[in-house]
Amino acid sequence: MTDTSVPNHAPDGAAGPACPAAHPDAVALSGLQYQQTPFELYRELRRKHGAVAPVLLDGGIPAWLALGYAEVSYVTSHDELFARDSRRWNQWPNIPADWPLLPYVGYQPSVLFTEGAEHQRRAGVISDALEGVDQLELSQHCQRIADQLVDRFAGSGQAELMSSYAHALPMRAAVQMCGMPLDGADTEALVEDLRMSLDAAEGDDPVAAYVRVQERIQQLVADKRRSPGPDVTSRMIASPAGLADEEIVQDLISVIAAAQQPTGNWIGNTLRLLLTDDRFALNVSGGRVSVGQALNEVLWLDTPTQNFIGRWAVRDIQLGGRQIRAGDCVVLGLAAANTDPQIWPEGHVGAQVNSAHLSFSNGEHRCPFPAPQLADVIARTAVETLLERLPDIVLAVEPEELAWRPSIWMRGLTALPVAFTPVVQ
Ligand code: HEM
Repeated sequence: MTDTSVPNHAPDGAAGPACPAAHPDAVALSGLQYQQTPFELYRELRRKHGAVAPVLLDGGIPAWLALGYAEVSYVTSHDELFARDSRRWNQWPNIPADWPLLPYVGYQPSVLFTEGAEHQRRAGVISDALEGVDQLELSQHCQRIADQLVDRFAGSGQAELMSSYAHALPMRAAVQMCGMPLDGADTEALVEDLRMSLDAAEGDDPVAAYVRVQERIQQLVADKRRSPGPDVTSRMIASPAGLADEEIVQDLISVIAAAQQPTGNWIGNTLRLLLTDDRFALNVSGGRVSVGQALNEVLWLDTPTQNFIGRWAVRDIQLGGRQIRAGDCVVLGLAAANTDPQIWPEGHVGAQVNSAHLSFSNGEHRCPFPAPQLADVIARTAVETLLERLPDIVLAVEPEELAWRPSIWMRGLTALPVAFTPVVQ
């Protein structure tokens, strides 16, 4: 089927072979070459392939990467053509059991992989439950969490902020939003198991950690059924949609995971910008306006979810001059779309004050309202509180020494070492 309304930003002659596996120029996304400078990868791919590039995922598995703003918007707003249930994939026979992307792509019965009316039901419950979060109260909770975390390292005059702050804070905020008391030993264990299952370090057992997370969230749902409170879990249980407990457990884990990783990297990338860019240097310690600008600029130019996997073509269709086959995987190139020269006058890429970026995706499966607002409250409070508590904070290494994580999916630093005058408490 050819839909003439599908955007076509292909370079001349780019309407290549039907199957990405057959494309001689398919670019391997798993190598280390571009991980410090993904913009160069996107520019290069756009130059060579246009708005939709044939790529190879880990293990040489073929997929398409949508790089154009119009193409990503089209894919995400036509879920009848590009759907979310990964069981449609025509590559499953080639995927090994230990494939590294399986945790993101392997089907799970959660909101993430549902479609149509079932997705509306599940996502509606999440949105309604998140809408019940009082944003002022969330900000106060985040400030308390931020203070506790800063207290742990304030006396030492130095810290590694990615693990001790940027990732630690949204994890605690999300768990507390779901109704677990912040100070319980149980909550600390859950936070540690979530960290291990989402972001395993050497020596961790992420599978065992994930089993414990499931058991703990099952317990949380059982507890809240007996004794509800003013929290996301209790509101999901009380929803007239009548979700089963297993559905609520799956979706709560999705909410916590979806909240933690990108918000942690949003905080980290914003702190990096504030600490390395002269434009923010003068009023960084007091400047609320600057913090807001930095948060916004990161979403446009250094967005946490760089690429999202993905959507699966429901039928044969053209996109960006490419022939996509039913069952092909399309990766959403959110970072590339934000910096697409087509949307920037005279090719000048910068950060706009509006929020027309695709960092929270678009369409039916986008980051559900009001999650982006809650993420903003968490990230803004985290950054502002840190700067208020440690006003003379500086990087403890040269900016060029900061290393990005070796991933084309999430953009975040491996470490953010800082120094400041020790605070005696
Ligand atoms: C409080 C914080 C957050 C919560 C509770 C949250 C929640 C969620 C949930 C439940 C989904 C699944 C939606 C669905 O499949 O229907 C989702 C998707 C997503 N979220 Fe968020 N999120 C948060 C923060 C963020 C941040 C900070 C970013 C990036 C800057 C982000 C970007 C995304 C993206 C790109 C998707 C994928 C949408 C797609 O499939 O098209 N989220 N989020």
